[in-house]
Amino acid sequence: MRAFLRNISITLAKILQKKKMVQSKFRALPIAALILLLHTVSAYPHGKSIYVTCPNSIQSAIDSAHGGDKIVVGPGTYKEQLTISTNGITLVGHDVNIVPPDVAVTNTCSGLVGTDLQAGICIQGSGVVSEPGNPGEHLNVKSVVTYVKDTHVRGFNVTGFTGLNIAVVGAEDTVVTGNVFSSSAQYGVLTVGSKNSHIKHNLILSTTPGPYGFYFIGICMDDKSTVTIAHNDISGYFIGLCVQTSGADIHENSVHEVCVGAYVDPGVNGAKLYDNQFSNSATAFVPCTAPFSAGVVISGATNTVLRSNKFSHIKTTEGKAVGVLLIDDQSGSGAIAAGNDVERNVFSGDNFDIYQNTTGAGNVIKKNQCTSSFPSELCV
Ligand SMILES: *[C@@H]1O[C@H](CO)[C@@H](O)[C@H](O)[C@H]1NC(C)=O
Ligand SMILES: *[C@@H]1O[C@H](CO)[C@@H](O)[C@H](O)[C@H]1NC(C)=O
Repeated sequence: MRAFLRNISITLAKILQKKKMVQSKFRALPIAALILLLHTVSAYPHGKSIYVTCPNSIQSAIDSAHGGDKIVVGPGTYKEQLTISTNGITLVGHDVNIVPPDVAVTNTCSGLVGTDLQAGICIQGSGVVSEPGNPGEHLNVKSVVTYVKDTHVRGFNVTGFTGLNIAVVGAEDTVVTGNVFSSSAQYGVLTVGSKNSHIKHNLILSTTPGPYGFYFIGICMDDKSTVTIAHNDISGYFIGLCVQTSGADIHENSVHEVCVGAYVDPGVNGAKLYDNQFSNSATAFVPCTAPFSAGVVISGATNTVLRSNKFSHIKTTEGKAVGVLLIDDQSGSGAIAAGNDVERNVFSGDNFDIYQNTTGAGNVIKKNQCTSSFPSELCV
């Protein structure tokens, strides 16, 4: 056993030789952590690369792949809907457009956000049981038998699906990064019933009026546990970020040309939004009306941390847009906004900066650089 542990350490040290910073960190790790690390590294020991060129099928490559495989897709436009349900698959695109096929594929994402609506990429666990969600929104995931793990998707341009560009449903440790998701009618990205999803560095936009006159939601998260949404650029949707996961970690996103930058739903507890930029409410395609003309709406949510964000030019022609709106739920759940922390945000050029009207206890609004607030004494 001792020799084995020593061998592990030596091998590891060799691997890390060139990365001195990293190496010094790992040296500090106890042996148990090293074993854990090795275990993680070797979860998919026989990964290989599979290359796909246009007009061959990306889905065929996914179907033939095993855990640890990396599917590298070459330039071109692929008329496909992708379904990923094997653990440990990495999809990498180089100048790849994915557009709807002539005949729709049926998978777990079909109908997820509306009858017959489809997703461009569906990362799906097995045995996903869903139930109706809020009217007009996505289905809720009630239970999942087996989560699909460790899916990575990067470098794709997914355009024009009827439901969503990409959905993460009953998945764990998914990473979606460096993609362009455009003009999908209902959602750009939805992660629902999943654990530890990371949605980062994606560009999410709409370019033309959608089939319903507007596009609904840029990124929506309704997960079972922590989710990270960071460094995305979102525009041209009715709502930029729909926050339905307690403890969601949302930072350094730029959200602009939307009616609502972020909407924190009733009952959501402890979502964190920091260092984001919310600007230019109002979309080219739909007039925004209160309360759907705001930078951030916290509606009956609790313990939200809204810190160090920038709000600029949150305004509409009717003049009723507001940077931060903190209210009890108006839509019937009766959820009271309590314990929310709105701090150190910077506001400029809005119709109105901060509006608080809640009966909840423990809401803290302080150290914000703003000029207009209700009640009136909130700005410094
Ligand atoms: C993405 O694909 C669409 C449709 O194929 C195309 O119009 C658009 O220019 C592409 N965008 C980027 C950023 O590549
Ligand atoms: C505050 O909220 C209550 C209940 O939602 C509403 O009746 C009242 O008009 C609001 N007050 C202001 C000043 O917005």
